[in-house]
Amino acid sequence: MTDPSTTGPGARVTVDRARVGDVRAIKRLVDEYAGPILLEKTLADLYEAVTGFWVARLDGAVVGCGALHVFWEDLGEIRTVATDPRARRRGVGHAVCTEIIAQAVELGLHRLFVLTFEVPFFSSLGFEPIRELDLSLEAQAELRASYDRGIAEFLDLPFVKPNTLGNTRMLKHL
Ligand SMILES: CC(C)(COP(=O)(O)OP(=O)(O)OC[C@H]1O[C@@H](n2cnc3c(N)ncnc32)[C@H](O)[C@@H]1OP(=O)(O)O)[C@@H](O)C(=O)NCCC(=O)NCCS
Repeated sequence: MTDPSTTGPGARVTVDRARVGDVRAIKRLVDEYAGPILLEKTLADLYEAVTGFWVARLDGAVVGCGALHVFWEDLGEIRTVATDPRARRRGVGHAVCTEIIAQAVELGLHRLFVLTFEVPFFSSLGFEPIRELDLSLEAQAELRASYDRGIAEFLDLPFVKPNTLGNTRMLKHL
């Protein structure tokens, strides 16, 4: 968990692992951007994934979230990063992503992927736009068999193309 830090006049942001009691607040954040910007998530999706989520609290209320999803032995994705529209540009997104990046390092990942419209934001966190990503044939074959929609978007499979249009594929080496 981050130390409380002041990010605006009197505002204290803390970031910690999500608890099941945070899931409805995460759902509200995701719903703000669900569609072309973020993949839609049902409550069941979020309960299933809650162990991979971090939340940011501003004076106690959940105002940001983000998740780490491991794809393969050296590769993960930072996904479902969202800040309450009323709390944007106060460092909430950076605080969440910094925790997730630290966790990715701790887990032993070497590369972190993100699919996003927010290129300057992720550039400032050390991500770079990429075209192709080096992936073993074994990883490609196994990931293709996954039911995870985010993995389909990562692989740029034809059936998700309408949803990935205009997004930038970015990678951070850890
Ligand atoms: C991307 C997103 C999470 C950023 O959240 P945020 O809380 O506004 O992020 P931050 O405040 O940490 O940083 C945003 C910008 O504000 C700036 N900023 C931070 N604190 C600031 C302050 N006190 N005053 C002015 N600007 C500030 C940062 O420098 C940053 O600039 P940059 O984008 O050029 O790097 C948010 O815009 C969002 O929810 N977008 C929709 C969902 C999405 O696209 N997610 C990414 C794909 S998973």
